[in-house]
Amino acid sequence: MEKAATRIDWIGNGCRLLKKTATEFEKTRPFDGLSIGTGIHLEPKTVALLMTLRAGGARLVCTGNLNSTQPATVDFLRSQGMTVFATQTTDPVAHRQSLEAVIAEKPDLLLDNGGDLFAIAAGRPYANLLGGTEETTSGRNRLVPLREKLAMPILVINDSPIKQFAENKHAVGQSLFESYMRFTNRSTNGKRVTVFGYGACGKGTAACFRNAFSTVSVVDIDPVTSLEAHLDGFVTPLREQAIRSADIIATVTGFPDIVTAADLPLIKDGAILMNGGHFPHEIDLSAFRSHPDVIGIDRYEADHIETFHLKDGRTFHVLGGGHMANLAGPRPLGNSVESMDLGFTLQARCLERVAKGGVGPESCIVPVPADIDAMVANAYLDLAR
Ligand SMILES: NC(=O)c1ccc[n+]([C@@H]2O[C@H](COP(=O)([O-])OP(=O)(O)OC[C@H]3O[C@@H](n4cnc5c(N)ncnc54)[C@H](O)[C@@H]3O)[C@@H](O)[C@H]2O)c1
Repeated sequence: MEKAATRIDWIGNGCRLLKKTATEFEKTRPFDGLSIGTGIHLEPKTVALLMTLRAGGARLVCTGNLNSTQPATVDFLRSQGMTVFATQTTDPVAHRQSLEAVIAEKPDLLLDNGGDLFAIAAGRPYANLLGGTEETTSGRNRLVPLREKLAMPILVINDSPIKQFAENKHAVGQSLFESYMRFTNRSTNGKRVTVFGYGACGKGTAACFRNAFSTVSVVDIDPVTSLEAHLDGFVTPLREQAIRSADIIATVTGFPDIVTAADLPLIKDGAILMNGGHFPHEIDLSAFRSHPDVIGIDRYEADHIETFHLKDGRTFHVLGGGHMANLAGPRPLGNSVESMDLGFTLQARCLERVAKGGVGPESCIVPVPADIDAMVANAYLDLAR
């Protein structure tokens, strides 16, 4: 029999670990009577996670992150009876309103991505908040200074070795590379690529472009990490030379102002700039847009590309408005299904641990417990054998 299937079905069927976990949760019901507030990209892979949490008895109140909300995902979640406040927006004020709406529901657990929800809860604590999870490096860095105010279990998925190598290293590199091709339809062969940041994401990005026949340079402010890049066979020029020579610049540091208006004199004619870091602040686009040396901007609306024309005749292009390129632009796919299946199974297991009181306030902004890592690794290997 033939049946029409959607992208959400395709992704859900590929999340084999989450499917197994959902079957178990239907019996064990770890979230019975609890609500979970989520602030994470609303795209099809997140659906698989949210359906798993719901199978465990959770009531879900959801919003997304800046720019990455996919309307079809929102429609689907609503059709499943979940409360969703998100809109597809690049406006931080509108995004903030959705986050506030989630917190106003006083969820018992929070599933955060970038620290947006816990940052609000730190300022306005409420009694039934048990704790939860934070997905990213950027969120962890933002929440660490709020540790005393939060004083509740918050498990950081990013700090699991599995998230580090399965998603950040292997999947972000692949999907940023895929995004470059998807946005531009340009080649990588013989191109000079500069990657800013040689953390897990930068390592994968540098490797993927090298595998696609580019000459890759790496710039990292940490000399030890730069040495690692050098010994991995990447060119490690000084920052200025790395910008001057680049046909493609990818930022994946998690920090603001990595490429700024001060770099305009250095940018090579025709260069393409993209960001893979969590926040759209690594490439200072707003400064480019108002800079006196920029005499014109072409906006390829449908393709989410901006071309900047400089006074001296050079042009350069920025993809996806400087937002995470793998979740921006036409038909954004994000990281691979398998990598997110692993990371989101860590999410589900960590939320289960917090819901059951298996970790206390001493576990405020700490890595995933090692036994959960081992359980998830074994489950994935069992499926692969
Ligand atoms: N696009 C995605 O799907 C995706 C997925 C996971 C993580 N992320 C985000 O990617 C970013 C990087 O994550 P990570 O896990 O690789 O982080 P990381 O902390 O492991 O690595 C960041 C690296 O950037 C370097 N760095 C910092 N400031 C710099 C500067 N001014 N110039 C050059 N290098 C600099 C650091 O020394 C470090 O080596 C974060 O914002 C994270 O949230 C994105």
